[in-house]
Amino acid sequence: MVSKKIRNRKKYTAAYSTVLTNTKTTASFSHIYVDAFAGAGKHKLKKTGEEVLGSPFNALDIKFPFHEYHLIDINPEKTSYLKEATKDKTNVFVYNNDCNKILLEKIIPSVEYSRYKRGLFFLDPYGIHLDWKVIKAAGQQKTIEIFLNFSIMDMNMNVLKKDKNKVTVDQKNGRKLQGRTYSEIPPTLQLAFN
Ligand SMILES: C[S@@+](CC[C@H](N)C(=O)[O-])C[C@H]1O[C@@H](n2cnc3c(N)ncnc32)[C@H](O)[C@@H]1O
Repeated sequence: MVSKKIRNRKKYTAAYSTVLTNTKTTASFSHIYVDAFAGAGKHKLKKTGEEVLGSPFNALDIKFPFHEYHLIDINPEKTSYLKEATKDKTNVFVYNNDCNKILLEKIIPSVEYSRYKRGLFFLDPYGIHLDWKVIKAAGQQKTIEIFLNFSIMDMNMNVLKKDKNKVTVDQKNGRKLQGRTYSEIPPTLQLAFN
């Protein structure tokens, strides 16, 4: 059985694209799908061993497709698989890189209000790998809807140390923050120290 997370995201993606495609005022807009922690596009369910589609392929498998699909993962094996599986689709772009960099430098600036661009972003990190600047920049564009999987496991394990001075790249427990300092992590995480 497909997980609730995957099922709900598929429904939301399909609904978003259906509305934008079929509404008079937005039908001419160019709407894009962005999967920033895309994974390999498939999962093996622990309990049954059954293989199910992950977020990128669910987004491709909808009645009213997006104009473009941008799939990002830092793991080269996962992006190689995604590239191979989507090689015949000219509107799919796969990036093997840190999504924070690609989103901030390339994708978010391109979703321009004045050019009738709109975007649905799926941000599905396992841990605290998402830079808060991404959320801020996306919000400022006023064209981007974000579906964020707010993973609390990594926060509980690595951030809730009640000592903000420990959150640096040099500290063992700050390692997973990828060099970001206290002021650069999401305000919701900062609350954990207050
Ligand atoms: C929870 S999984 C994604 C599952 C996928 N969204 C799905 O539903 O099938 C998180 C993914 O994020 C990737 N990842 C971790 N840090 C990253 C980063 N900084 N930039 C891009 N991808 C990253 C991992 O390689 C992993 O594949």
